[in-house]
Amino acid sequence: MNYVITGASRGIGYDLALLLASDPGNRVLVLSRDAAKLELLAKELDGVSGAGYFSYLPYDLSRPDASALLSAVSQMGGVDVVVNNAGALVNKPFVELSDADWRQVFDTNFFGPVALIRTLVPLLREGRQSHIVNISSMGGFQGSSKFRGLSAYSASKAALANLTECLAEELAEEGIAVNCLALGAVQTEMLAEAFPGYQAPLSSADMAGFIAYFATQGQRFFNGKVLPVSLSTP
Ligand SMILES: NC(=O)c1ccc[n+]([C@@H]2O[C@H](COP(=O)([O-])OP(=O)(O)OC[C@H]3O[C@@H](n4cnc5c(N)ncnc54)[C@H](OP(=O)(O)O)[C@@H]3O)[C@@H](O)[C@H]2O)c1
Repeated sequence: MNYVITGASRGIGYDLALLLASDPGNRVLVLSRDAAKLELLAKELDGVSGAGYFSYLPYDLSRPDASALLSAVSQMGGVDVVVNNAGALVNKPFVELSDADWRQVFDTNFFGPVALIRTLVPLLREGRQSHIVNISSMGGFQGSSKFRGLSAYSASKAALANLTECLAEELAEEGIAVNCLALGAVQTEMLAEAFPGYQAPLSSADMAGFIAYFATQGQRFFNGKVLPVSLSTP
């Protein structure tokens, strides 16, 4: 399978890319802003014997570049699975959130995936068992407990979850499944920044293992679903 994964310079996306690209049968393209960290990931994969095709594109989701993306995907030979994993979090009380804060969070968590999906749909139509997996959060899961300070982040993740349901309907006839995973706490730098001192029950490698399985197989069982993947939140 051919995978495009956003947000692979650290955290869950890094471990997901490492895991998928370690399989010789896979081809993986990753996107993030920090080229130096993506280069480190490439170096780590160089040391994995029999690793599959891996390439990276320094990319800012808040400044979509369709032609660079299309060129990188066509170099890989097409795409079957897209994991919209990149995320931005601003932790501030609602009254202190500026317009710029709201825009930054929505540009990364919502409008970035919108532009990416729109660009890749024509290629996903030609894919094998095509699957778009949107990574949301329990904060964006309807009816869940919410955390103070995360209104922009949670609202953007709720928008991504809703988009999943809409796109599943529109893209079903094209043979493209769209699902959303609403993650609970995972021990990463994002979590440490949002909840200093909190110890999550899962590592990024644990969650990457589940997402790798779901991204590859989940389209056989689910479409248009927003699934909570959480040990810690109702
Ligand atoms: N960790 C948790 O407990 C938890 C819980 C619920 C949901 N999630 C979700 O799971 C996903 C991964 O989380 P994580 O904890 O691994 O986060 P993380 O460690 O903060 O990593 C976030 C990734 O997103 C990338 N990114 C951020 N802004 C970007 C932009 N404008 N353009 C391109 N890439 C961008 C970052 O790369 P660059 O800085 O290099 O661009 C980084 O690779 C996120 O969507 C997050 O919201 C996490």
